[in-house]
Amino acid sequence: MIDQTKLPTELLYVKYTDYNDVAYAIKNLIVRGAPAIGVSGAFGLALAALQSNATTKEQLLADLEKARKILHDTRPTAVNLSWGLEQIMNVANKGNTVQEIKDLIVTTAKQMAEDDIKINMTMGKNGSELFSNNDTIMTHCNAGSLATVAYGTALGVIRATKESGKNIKVIATETRPVQQGSRLTAFELKHDGFDVSLIPDTAVGYSMANKLVNKVVVGADRVLRTGHVYNKIGTYQVALMAKQHGIPFYVAAPLSTFDMKSTPDDVIIEQRKGTEVTQIGDRKTAPDGIHVINPAFDMTPPELISGIITEAGVAKPPFDETIPKLFEAKK
Ligand code: MRU
Repeated sequence: MIDQTKLPTELLYVKYTDYNDVAYAIKNLIVRGAPAIGVSGAFGLALAALQSNATTKEQLLADLEKARKILHDTRPTAVNLSWGLEQIMNVANKGNTVQEIKDLIVTTAKQMAEDDIKINMTMGKNGSELFSNNDTIMTHCNAGSLATVAYGTALGVIRATKESGKNIKVIATETRPVQQGSRLTAFELKHDGFDVSLIPDTAVGYSMANKLVNKVVVGADRVLRTGHVYNKIGTYQVALMAKQHGIPFYVAAPLSTFDMKSTPDDVIIEQRKGTEVTQIGDRKTAPDGIHVINPAFDMTPPELISGIITEAGVAKPPFDETIPKLFEAKK
């Protein structure tokens, strides 16, 4: 995988053979983005299977369960991580012999990676129909190739819109504190030849009020059946300002990002270390000993969302009716 903490100054690929290192990579944002950590979790379990010296199915399942917990406990908000781990555990339970289980797990993890790209391309196509020639599209955080196996969710929609022949511009928010917008989205889109402008998060209102942007698309870490969307901190503010200015606000997320069981009370918002806020890179930007509140995600309520783009189609409000239909259509 690419070590995303080094971008945009260094494009460094890292290789892991121990699932504990994959867990470390997820926790420390070496790999981040909901679909990317879902598939990384699956590959982490594949490594755990290969690392195991078990001679019976029971021993192997116990080794896998230990690894599943370590991988799972790295980040609590993106549901794709538990989804990816669950897919592998289900497959493991179906195998009969140790070798058969190991083979099944490795094949499934590879298949999940391939499926992620196909899903993103289908989602991109579905979403591209919501965008027009000469649109300027704002996005927050990074929901691109770097946040998935390839192509991206929100950036996949932007890619597919451009590939359909429409002329578009993109505005990327910086996304403090970890700057996924400036370090990753701006890097990724510039690298791929998009007309992209970077703004500080504080310029979202200005950009909307001055008609510099006419649509928004973001990714998601978890979508509830009611249409409550959990995404990078600051998404809620962008959605509220879009509503104020009559700008359509779209979310792009694969069905693996949907959590059809939880209610907003159940969702844990990850709180990250204060140094992400008191420093920019290694440079101190706040007084020593200051108390910091650093939530990594926020919740955007359904009434601020114009549509949720998936590989099974676009859900429009009322979401509590249209989201369950996406899953029925998939059956
Ligand atoms: O903390 P991060 O960088 O993992 O947060 C990522 C986001 O919030 C993305 O918008 C989300 O995972 C969607 S990625 C396709």
